[in-house]
Amino acid sequence: MKLMVVGGGGREHAIIKKLKQNPTVTEIFALPGNGGIAADATCVNIGAKDIEKIVAFATENAIDYAVVAPDDPLVLGCVDALNAVGIPCFGPDAKAAIIEGSKVFSKNLMKKYNIPTATYEVFDDPAKAAEYLQTAPIPTVIKADGLALGKGVVIATTREDALDAVRSMMEDKVFGESGNQIVVEEFLTGPEVSVLAFTDGETVVPMVSSMDHKRAGDGDTGLNTGGMGTIAPNPYYTADVAKVCMETIFIPTINAMKAEGRPFKGCLYFGLMLTPNGPKVIEYNCRFGDPETQVVLPLMETDLLEAMMATTNGTLKDTDIRFSSGSACCVVMASNGYPGKYETGFEMTIPANLDGEVYVAGAKIIDGKLCTGGGRVLGAVATADNLADAVLKAYGLVPKIHFDNAYYRHDIGKRALDAGKE
Ligand code: AMP
Ligand code: GLY
Repeated sequence: MKLMVVGGGGREHAIIKKLKQNPTVTEIFALPGNGGIAADATCVNIGAKDIEKIVAFATENAIDYAVVAPDDPLVLGCVDALNAVGIPCFGPDAKAAIIEGSKVFSKNLMKKYNIPTATYEVFDDPAKAAEYLQTAPIPTVIKADGLALGKGVVIATTREDALDAVRSMMEDKVFGESGNQIVVEEFLTGPEVSVLAFTDGETVVPMVSSMDHKRAGDGDTGLNTGGMGTIAPNPYYTADVAKVCMETIFIPTINAMKAEGRPFKGCLYFGLMLTPNGPKVIEYNCRFGDPETQVVLPLMETDLLEAMMATTNGTLKDTDIRFSSGSACCVVMASNGYPGKYETGFEMTIPANLDGEVYVAGAKIIDGKLCTGGGRVLGAVATADNLADAVLKAYGLVPKIHFDNAYYRHDIGKRALDAGKE
């Protein structure tokens, strides 16, 4: 089978390495991929949002199955466009991807179908939002309706910060059209859990749970990033919590999308908070998470392509999907300065035969050499029987990998390991 993976980060590298384990796979194209992915797939210089060119490439190269990984092309209808020319795809069509593409849609969906989430108000008029915020409980959470590169959420701890967020989203339009509407919602507390789930629109099969580390600095300090590391499974996600989530969140969400005439096929990402009043949905993503995927897929014991194709074909119920009982840890090595300004173009050395995996997120080939090419450069990933060993092994990989100006957190997994001691 000839496959095409749309996207070019660490998540896509992890997906590609896992897909390669299927013996029927003969070739994988990555659009656009990156300098590191080039070791495992044929990279094609077509951007992930360039739907017309993606469709033309897939047709010309007789692609058998496509995987659309990032949010933007999914929300823009990449799956619809590929399906229209007869190419089967992993991922939701645009009418289902709206579950991530519009926060107003997802909040209204949860309210209509009684799926637990933070209480909220929607505004399309900045003056009305400002008026509401004069008396709203603080802290409060302000969210731009549309996609905003993961930056559209502001936790306001003062009334001034809340009003500033409304101004920058709705009047200064820092996220463009995404700020035409905003959601103002209740501030929730509790441990956060990410659960990715395969679904064919009828059946939902959760994967092993995980925990992201979003802040740039040790001890969860500093700016929000795309994710500085992950661990799986998440110790807060016990069998009891999993059962509650299945009954009150996962199944109701799949059924709600079906009832709305928007059956969701692909990977649905549940961003959950385990509040004192039970698990609640913080956000839905219409795709695999990054860097959650980098710890979830190494623990998957069954075939990824089969699971993906089952979501497309509606045969998930009869598909064998299993995860190991071990643990995984991903330490992201970034360019110093990320998520602010940083330099790229530094030569990278990644030794062969490491006791773990390296998923490259931002790299380019310069004069035949692999060089840094992004804020997040790579994820160093290890698996072990237990979390403590997985963390040790992942941190054992880091000093063996070199590029100038490398930056990483030293405490990935610490919160999860401490959870067991509470
Ligand atoms: P992002 O990945 O940029 O959407 O970041 C969202 C983050 O903001 C989540 O991971 C939570 O930590 C936090 N967050 C979002 N909504 C709430 C909420 N209602 N209460 C508390 N924290 C929230
Ligand atoms: N790690 C969060 C995301 O993929 O959006």
